[in-house]
Amino acid sequence: MRGRAADLRALLALAAACALALCAGAARLYGTEAGHKLLPAQKARDCTDNSDEVCSLPGLNGPPHVRMRAGYITVSEVSDRRLWYLVADREQPAPEPEPEAAQAEPVVGKGSGGAAGGVEDDEAASPVLLWLTGGPGCSSLDAFIYEHGPFKFSFASERWQQGQEQARGGDKQREVVIEPNPFSWTKLATVIYVDSPAGAGMSYSGRPDVDYHTNDQYTIADLVTFLQGLTERYPELATAPFHIAGESYAGVYVPLLADALVTANRQREAAGRPPLVQLQGYAVGNPVTDDVLDGNGQMTFAAAMGYVDPPTWAAMREACDDMFWNATQGSECYELQGVVKDELWDLNWYDVLDTCTHVHDPASAATAGAAGGARGGRRNAADLARRFHWPFTARLGGGGPDLGLLGAMDQQAGEQQQQQQRQQAGGLEAAGLEAGRHGGRRLWGPWLRHVAPCMDRRLALDWLNRAEVRAALHAAPLSVLPDWQPCSDVLYYAMDTADLVPTHVRLAGREGLRVLVYSGDHDMVVPHTGTTAWLYGRASGGGGGRLGRPDGPLRPWTYKGQVAGWTASWPGPEGPAGAGVRGLRYASVKGAGHMVPQSRPAEALALLRAHLYGLEL
Ligand SMILES: *[C@@H]1O[C@H](CO)[C@@H](O)[C@H](O)[C@H]1NC(C)=O
Repeated sequence: MRGRAADLRALLALAAACALALCAGAARLYGTEAGHKLLPAQKARDCTDNSDEVCSLPGLNGPPHVRMRAGYITVSEVSDRRLWYLVADREQPAPEPEPEAAQAEPVVGKGSGGAAGGVEDDEAASPVLLWLTGGPGCSSLDAFIYEHGPFKFSFASERWQQGQEQARGGDKQREVVIEPNPFSWTKLATVIYVDSPAGAGMSYSGRPDVDYHTNDQYTIADLVTFLQGLTERYPELATAPFHIAGESYAGVYVPLLADALVTANRQREAAGRPPLVQLQGYAVGNPVTDDVLDGNGQMTFAAAMGYVDPPTWAAMREACDDMFWNATQGSECYELQGVVKDELWDLNWYDVLDTCTHVHDPASAATAGAAGGARGGRRNAADLARRFHWPFTARLGGGGPDLGLLGAMDQQAGEQQQQQQRQQAGGLEAAGLEAGRHGGRRLWGPWLRHVAPCMDRRLALDWLNRAEVRAALHAAPLSVLPDWQPCSDVLYYAMDTADLVPTHVRLAGREGLRVLVYSGDHDMVVPHTGTTAWLYGRASGGGGGRLGRPDGPLRPWTYKGQVAGWTASWPGPEGPAGAGVRGLRYASVKGAGHMVPQSRPAEALALLRAHLYGLEL
């Protein structure tokens, strides 16, 4: 628990660091930085101590080309629970396009979409997009750095290896270089990054003993409170077309939040108040949606890719009766799946085309090397726990022996905390704290090392844990939050929504929201095989309330003359009136992994454009 003194320290540290940032920014502004053109808006930015403007970023040469504001919205005064955000404004089109820059620009502007007809050039209609990273417990800053943020980040040393820049000396090995990202989603929308729930990323609570026990419902409620606070602070966000997007476990958050906003807007309308936001639609990427079909999809993906011995696959299908996700420990189905999962041990499940770096997992790398790969014999407890891949491990309460190991360690710690809470329960209620917060399973512990297996997150871990970066982003200083992690292990999380299909059907159908479901088709964690299974199965299935038939066969969509993926749309029986694509659209992205904008940034931006403006792909 943090006291007043800690608050004061944090405030002082922030103030001091902001002053430094101001000086640095001013120096660049009036310096001799060659070739950097300033937009009028940048000159007018308020970089004084108490401003929320992000005026500089350590590693960036010059002031940011995108206006950014960052800070905290308190979602509970009682427990000092606060969510960190960064609002990156839509980029202003450059006054005079620079020839050398134009080459790297993706085709997102005028004329590239035919039917677009300049819709996106209408300033008044410039959309706002709220981004949520999954987990639970993973930080949106991970997406800001690695996916669709306004900047591309790299270590200087990586650039040397790529032969792009001359070596500049040993002490520069870990220098972070920041450049504009030509595929930033800020080309199309003002993007809000928020770390949610409290305990993830830069967001935190003054009462972790209470607030870090959470679930989907508490998370969504906090996000609604967050949006109330944010739109009070920036009223322009409430009047723009509003979209929500996210990937992975945000496949749960995004439709639930959309649903909550529809309800909130309806209540406000009844009370004669303007809507909280002008919700138009949402997008989910490789979304956790249906435990059964997503879970089964992992194995059907592996088989379709040719990653499973055909006779073993035939035996598995028979033993499991095609129901792979919930095999009973000790059954033939379970054992056969274990064999397959051992075989797939060294594969990067998040992007099967990408390398598995092992950088956060040296023990596993050593094991793999010494034992000669997946066939090297039984693994230790941590390895076994990891074998059943996220997200389905944590969801299945104590299923098999692997989960048993994971679960026992989690539950022990969780129960100790719960015990303390029970003792304090009366006190919690009296103090106005949410006594209902308890239980949940601890995630991203030592087994997962706070990082999705195989992914390299060294740059984010390095950069975001620097004092000057925290200050620049108006995030808590290291004294308050010593350890930013891509995925936080402080949360005890109960995943209490196992099925989002009915929510999608209702929102895309009766509620008339524009919905995009996209899948990197080389992700094995929440693979397209599972997503298409629920789309073409339960979501389409006849009868009232369902989306009905798609508008045509699954067909290729192209980017710059190349097949970029496959798409189909479900206009829905009661889709909204108006021009453009409506209802629910599915689009796969060829060659992309779990984080589509990371592996296929240009195609991801093209998809977003089609979604935001209701264009054909
Ligand atoms: C697994 O899930 C399916 C679908 O929900 C269900 O019909 C089946 O009974 C479950 N099997 C086990 C072993 O729990």
